[in-house]
Amino acid sequence: MRRIAVVPGSFDPVTLGHLDVIERAAGLFDEVHVLVVHNPGKTALLPISQRVSLLQRAIADAGLPDTIIVASWSMGLLVDYCLEVGASVLIKGIRSQVDVAYETPMAIVNRNLAGVETIFMLPDPANAHVSSSLVRQVAALGGDISPYVPRVVAQYLQKAPV
Ligand code: PNS
Repeated sequence: MRRIAVVPGSFDPVTLGHLDVIERAAGLFDEVHVLVVHNPGKTALLPISQRVSLLQRAIADAGLPDTIIVASWSMGLLVDYCLEVGASVLIKGIRSQVDVAYETPMAIVNRNLAGVETIFMLPDPANAHVSSSLVRQVAALGGDISPYVPRVVAQYLQKAPV
């Protein structure tokens, strides 16, 4: 039986911290779905289709395995996607206790809804301070985001109006 995991998030935009978690997940599972989901609690910078495209290019540029699939989901619950693709595990990157507090209720609800377990993964501490919201803010104010994001993202955001 194939072991399939989903790495969900806003990915607005994908950061080096995300890529690190995606790579670690790919080392543990036969198939990893990186799923772009709209988060109504956040003001979006990039359209979903652009986030998917940047993720695909960043994953290819980093030479990550082709067992990683990038998709988006707007058809309902996150666990509905998991059931549709046969994934029994969600993976979330945890940078700090703040992330644990944010993620724990969602993990319990997702398990209650559909028996989907959540694994909290510790990324490289070098990326512990990196977040998409920080990247959006630095980019909007004209700062250099290249230390925090894949090259395709830095190139895209430097060219595109933010
Ligand atoms: O990168 P983010 O913004 O922290 O990702 C949050 C996300 C998209 C993973 C979260 O908002 C989510 O799980 N949305 C799916 C909606 C859902 O299924 N909610 C009910 C169970 S928590």
